[in-house]
Amino acid sequence: MESPIILNYFTISVSCFCMLLLYASTLNLVFALKNCTFPAIFNFGDSNSDTGGLSAAFSPRTPPYGETFFHTPAGRYSDGRLIIDFMALSFGLPYLSAYLDSLGTNFKHGANFATAASTIMLPATIMPTVGGYSPFYLDAQYMEFVQFKIRSQIIRQKGGIYANLMPESEYFPKALYTFDIGHNDLGEGFSNMSIEAVNASVPDIVNNFSINVKRVYDLGGRSFRIHNIGPIGCLPYILTNFSTAERDNYGCAKPYNDVAQYFNYKLKEAIVQLRISLPLAAITHVDVYSAKYSLFREPNKYGFELPLVACCGYGGKYNYNTSVGCGGTITVNGSQIFVGSCARPSVRVIWDGAHYTEAANKFVFDQISTGTFSDPPIPLTMACHRL
Ligand SMILES: *[C@@H]1O[C@H](CO)[C@@H](O)[C@H](O)[C@H]1NC(C)=O
Ligand SMILES: *[C@@H]1O[C@H](CO)[C@@H](O)[C@H](O)[C@H]1NC(C)=O
Ligand SMILES: *[C@@H]1O[C@H](CO)[C@@H](O)[C@H](O)[C@H]1NC(C)=O
Ligand SMILES: *[C@@H]1O[C@H](CO)[C@@H](O)[C@H](O)[C@H]1NC(C)=O
Ligand SMILES: *[C@@H]1O[C@H](CO)[C@@H](O)[C@H](O)[C@H]1NC(C)=O
Ligand SMILES: *[C@@H]1O[C@H](CO)[C@@H](O)[C@H](O)[C@H]1NC(C)=O
Ligand SMILES: *[C@@H]1O[C@H](CO)[C@@H](O)[C@H](O)[C@H]1NC(C)=O
Repeated sequence: MESPIILNYFTISVSCFCMLLLYASTLNLVFALKNCTFPAIFNFGDSNSDTGGLSAAFSPRTPPYGETFFHTPAGRYSDGRLIIDFMALSFGLPYLSAYLDSLGTNFKHGANFATAASTIMLPATIMPTVGGYSPFYLDAQYMEFVQFKIRSQIIRQKGGIYANLMPESEYFPKALYTFDIGHNDLGEGFSNMSIEAVNASVPDIVNNFSINVKRVYDLGGRSFRIHNIGPIGCLPYILTNFSTAERDNYGCAKPYNDVAQYFNYKLKEAIVQLRISLPLAAITHVDVYSAKYSLFREPNKYGFELPLVACCGYGGKYNYNTSVGCGGTITVNGSQIFVGSCARPSVRVIWDGAHYTEAANKFVFDQISTGTFSDPPIPLTMACHRL
């Protein structure tokens, strides 16, 4: 009777010990790694990392966008900088120019293919100016990258004033490739389909994502940082539109976050497969969801307040109204009111109902650059290493 228990106990303690060893050896490996030198960043994504793409092609942002840092609208869906900006800054690289921006851009140290309202899959309704999605979905962003890689080298070889604005050919294998996309595939689904149907579409969306990562690898990309998606159910645009959806302890719309978490679960699974099929790649999965969610769970601990309420917006419980956005005007009692910023964006989480403030982006960057939220648990500066 006793021996199986002893055996079990023994087995358990041996496996715990092994896990500890494994953990310790992972940490030792991390400590032994050198910082990488990333001469360039190539980014694919949506408004979370758009540094001017959609603004260059369609309706540009207007004040008060950009007021905190750039002091003018800078193509970003925030009052200031985005996570990708803090990333570039930490490598000592210039802020990334948007590939679609033909004015005053410099691609020497990378290019940004992200546009706001981008999806992974071809969206059903295209035209961001009337509430549709960006035509530059992930396949299109990949095709832009294909052109960029070839044409930038032709331009370098020609010489002249444009040559120096292009990356050197050896930057491509050394660069960091970052992905932050998927929110809008879910958002588009929610506006049109049941939660269950959106959830059921997740495996196809993630599969499509994986294929695009493989294609970038086939073009020579080796270091990848893949962000998962954030807690979409905590955003005012979801909370306002689905006001009767079940709330969690922090006031976020639980069923919508559940779908985001399922997306992230499938994404993590897909990344495990990618590591097997792309043997020369270093692929870091970054749990941005958890870093962002901590702002809704314990805002005061991190110096934030009113996490579910948009800073720049108008009306309702969440200071958000679909028909009048940040920077717009609304007629109330016969007088025109400008929809401007709150008094202190530096202590607020959400900027305009769907996007984060510079302060929140900085907080999330600080969290995710250490490795605490990464798999493997290596800091951003070491993202070129396979573990
Ligand atoms: C790596 O870079 C980080 C951030 O720039 C720096 O704090 C750290 O000292 C560097 N580590 C090594 C081993 O050079
Ligand atoms: C991704 O899905 C779109 C349809 O949304 C399809 O046209 C495209 O071929 C898919 N891309 C890949 C790489 O499978
Ligand atoms: C809000 O929800 C309704 C249906 O409940 C949908 O028609 C509309 O497109 C949604 N809007 C957004 C922005 O998701
Ligand atoms: C709603 O979804 C269907 C497919 O399920 C699609 O054909 C249709 O265009 C979508 N409508 C909108 C407004 O997105
Ligand atoms: C989404 O689908 C998965 C797999 O079928 C399931 O485990 C999960 O409960 C579903 N989530 C929602 C919110 O429907
Ligand atoms: C949004 O604003 C419009 C006026 O632009 C108003 O008619 C509507 O009631 C507002 N919606 C909410 C939920 O406050
Ligand atoms: C509009 O008028 C109503 C009725 O006089 C008043 O209660 C409300 O506060 C006014 N709204 C604004 C924004 O001034």
